[in-house]
Amino acid sequence: MLSPFAGRAHTRAGEATTEARKLEQRLQQSERLKALGTLAAGIAHEIRNPLATINFNTQMLRRELELLPAQQEMLEDVFEQIRKMDRIIQQVLHFARPRDPQFVPGSLNEVVRHCLDMSKMYLIKAHAEVSVDLQPDLPPTVMDFNQICQVLMNLIINSVEAMPGGGKLRISTSLDQEQGQIFDIHDSGIGILDEDKGRIFDPFFTRKPEGTGMGLSISRQIIEKHGALMELASIPGEGTTFRLIFPVGTSPRPAVPDQPPEPSAKTVQGVKTKKKK
Ligand SMILES: Nc1ncnc2c1ncn2[C@@H]1O[C@H](COP(=O)(O)OP(=O)(O)O)[C@@H](O)[C@H]1O
Ligand SMILES: [Mg+2]
Repeated sequence: MLSPFAGRAHTRAGEATTEARKLEQRLQQSERLKALGTLAAGIAHEIRNPLATINFNTQMLRRELELLPAQQEMLEDVFEQIRKMDRIIQQVLHFARPRDPQFVPGSLNEVVRHCLDMSKMYLIKAHAEVSVDLQPDLPPTVMDFNQICQVLMNLIINSVEAMPGGGKLRISTSLDQEQGQIFDIHDSGIGILDEDKGRIFDPFFTRKPEGTGMGLSISRQIIEKHGALMELASIPGEGTTFRLIFPVGTSPRPAVPDQPPEPSAKTVQGVKTKKKK
């Protein structure tokens, strides 16, 4: 298969100019996002306490009132909306004040297996036809297992949401001598419009009626803290590939050396797992 990331044959000078321009754009964007994050966190913080009061009092009402079924249902709706607001607040605070990664030597394949195991039922229900192709013998890499898992789960959920009636999901890891360890997730979903490609990593950018627009912004933040890269290739109407690149030799230093990698390997069921030759 032709890689969607192939065809980067530029001259060295051209590459340097493009890289410099990209870096400048990223710096401007990161300043803008920082300001947006600070503002959003301020608002989220202010909303948190009143929301807790609403939640508490609504729970009291549920206990004390004898409600008709229709009224009961209305109250359940209120609880659901409270939970949604709480989730948004958590995500905004998480984005604005990210937790520092706990770097530990770990295995990229292990994170992938763990996330697939966690999302197994979700993928079956979504009629996602999953194929997995993991590069054997990947060297250990330094990472925060839970944070990388959070990124992978965000990517998996986005892929599934891009294939409303089901579709094909391809997940792989590979090793590129120059670039490093690569994780790819490809879906046969609706794809991303060119005009959206620059904005999907912005906090609150969403095309979904129930979306929060926080998944990719948090994910990219985590990936950057790992000294890794997130790339995307997408064709509207055909599908999307997200790629994570963990460069060789630039891994962050482990906070706790000699610690064994987190959780033990679990077999992936319900998905087709194939070994690379
Ligand atoms: N795999 C994908 N296929 C198509 N669109 C995607 C994909 N992943 C992300 N997107 C687009 O990026 C937007 C932002 O994603 P995200 O930050 O996870 O927020 P949310 O999922 O809440 O909308 C989505 O609303 C969607 O438009
Ligand atoms: Mg999402």
